[in-house]
Amino acid sequence: MTEDGRYNTGTAPRLCATSHGNPKVGSVGISSFGDIRRFDSIDSTNRYLLDQARDGAPHGVVAVADHQTAGRGRLGRAWEAPPGSNLLVSVLLRVDLPAGSRHLASAAVALAATEAIGAETEVVPGIKWPNDLLAPDGRKLAGVLAEADLSGPPEHGFPPIVVGIGINVGWPLSDDDLPEELVGSATSLYQETGGIVDRSALLHALLAALDARVAPLSTSEGRAGQASELRQRCVTIGRRVRVELAGGQLEGTATDVTDEGHLVVATADGVKTVVAGDVVHLRPAG
Ligand code: BTN
Repeated sequence: MTEDGRYNTGTAPRLCATSHGNPKVGSVGISSFGDIRRFDSIDSTNRYLLDQARDGAPHGVVAVADHQTAGRGRLGRAWEAPPGSNLLVSVLLRVDLPAGSRHLASAAVALAATEAIGAETEVVPGIKWPNDLLAPDGRKLAGVLAEADLSGPPEHGFPPIVVGIGINVGWPLSDDDLPEELVGSATSLYQETGGIVDRSALLHALLAALDARVAPLSTSEGRAGQASELRQRCVTIGRRVRVELAGGQLEGTATDVTDEGHLVVATADGVKTVVAGDVVHLRPAG
């Protein structure tokens, strides 16, 4: 972003075109995720799918946008990217998931995204708990936001969880594009690889990987398997962390992820399990 708040898109590659106005509906032939609604511009793909879910939209609807005017990040933050540069996509999930394991729905998307990035590039991202995808250099490549609506009538099926992910594909082109506070902490596939990654191919790989992860969420063995993969990918385990919680903060060493996807932290006051919070990786003590 430039100093006056505009984006410096430079020679940012426009990676695909979408329709204007109403969504263009497409299909990529992936069993659960065949209903893909594409937008040139929308406020937020998460907002769109939550509204669709309230009207009874089924499991598997996908919304993808070339640009979001009010993209939502975690903890009420904004999520911004210039038009035509990054992959901005949300999926509507209705899965038979115990309330205490809902985190695994967003973890499934994060894991699917690491697979997709691995398939389309040579980058192997790690997952910073709860769901950030980090490049090997520790800078953020993607963020995940899950929003659930538990108020719907049972005839619509399992309660909807909308999981949105923003993957920095073509933006930032360089650190010059970033506001000062993000320099050193955000990156893109373009910055990591020096090449243009096709957003449609990345979307297809993401949905295919996610398709294989949805059914296992409904069994305890499947969830344990997903949690085990999360554990292997989670670069927070072993790190000293500060966790910002709704009612305060705690500091310690992250030691594990539970089968429900929650973070285990060893603190001076004992072992704590964190269900929701914002994690800062700290430098090792001493
Ligand atoms: C984060 O703060 O790290 C989460 C960012 C999530 C952004 C994605 S982009 C697609 C979807 N639509 C939104 O409004 N937000 C998510």
